[in-house]
Amino acid sequence: MSTNQPHGGTLVNRINFSYDTGKITKEIELDAFALSDLELLAIGAYSPLTGFLGEEDYKRVVHTMRLADGTVWSIPITLPVTEETAARLAPGDTVKLVYQGAVYGVIEVAELYTPDKEVEAQNVYGTTELAHPGVKKLWSRPAVYVAGPITLVKRPEKNQFKEFYLDPGETRAVFEKRGWKTVVGFQTRNPVHRAHEYIQKTALEIVDGLFLNPLVGETKADDIPADIRMESYQVLLKNYYPSDRVFLAVFPAAMRYAGPREAIFHALVRKNYGCTHFIVGRDHAGVGNYYGTYDAQLIFSDFTADELGITPLFFEHSFYCKKCGNMASAKTCPHSSEDHLHLSGTKVREMLSQGEAPPPEFSRPEVVEVLIRGMKVAVGK
Ligand code: ADX
Repeated sequence: MSTNQPHGGTLVNRINFSYDTGKITKEIELDAFALSDLELLAIGAYSPLTGFLGEEDYKRVVHTMRLADGTVWSIPITLPVTEETAARLAPGDTVKLVYQGAVYGVIEVAELYTPDKEVEAQNVYGTTELAHPGVKKLWSRPAVYVAGPITLVKRPEKNQFKEFYLDPGETRAVFEKRGWKTVVGFQTRNPVHRAHEYIQKTALEIVDGLFLNPLVGETKADDIPADIRMESYQVLLKNYYPSDRVFLAVFPAAMRYAGPREAIFHALVRKNYGCTHFIVGRDHAGVGNYYGTYDAQLIFSDFTADELGITPLFFEHSFYCKKCGNMASAKTCPHSSEDHLHLSGTKVREMLSQGEAPPPEFSRPEVVEVLIRGMKVAVGK
């Protein structure tokens, strides 16, 4: 077996398309965030979880980044419902999980509990400020959590880039078929700019394969839409990557912006997809100034290598250095920051939306072309 073991030892599969939901009367209306978690639970991306967290697991995750049995898990996966809905439910109920009129799953309700969101925000996101998009999302969702094992009875429709949706069982089979013994996972919610390419290819020098695994679930409004990003990844891979050493598939999760904790979560999930290594660069899954540049790397030292079961590859902040004439980081470049090309994400998005191309040392022209075209269409919508 060449691919890495799933987290907890077994790849969870909670899919049953012949499940008869006809006689179930109670239902819970999901939001897009919960629908995405339901699917990720069912396909084993969140192994060893088999459902939405119960209170004991939830509290342990919030306070100690572990499930009640001690397994490392850093982000609470929860199903929030309104007090009104909660009042109609009881432990032991089997309940339909509905999104926009269609039944996608069922939950065997094990318990209902009211979380302390203040504590959840502080521990998971490191802040209770509503300006933080993850905290804002947390408070915008209902007050009571429903817990219990789930079954997915219908796959959410994929309207775009269908061929890039692969389940962990499928990516594992791809890696195995390609004979990759070591695979590095790369999480991104952005276009792949030169700095991303640099760290990916540096990693690729020491492992067999790169799993480019962009997150395509909910992101904040000013992040570049997933369809535009997907097109940019494809054009980049076609022109600049060896096709037999890279594999592109999407990660249909919502972005939490939980920085360090989300880095652990992202690594564990990629372990489930079969990766042996995972890239953590500067301010991974960060937003604004909520986290220190390398907090998402430091957090890995809270756990043993065995507990994680996936090896993080840490990269310093990377940039193009005009004096070196290549990509570099503080580890490899002796020149001062005036010689470095720095453009903030906000600045780049601003340039792109005005049809202005960032320099080729920042982003490949082929990628820029896709982004400018895509942003024009997005703005026109
Ligand atoms: S993230 O929210 O998905 O982490 P992004 O897509 O920007 O955001 O980052 C993807 C990965 O690349 C993360 O591991 C991040 O730390 C890393 N990264 C992004 N930009 C740089 C950079 N300039 N130097 C080093 N690492 C970077």
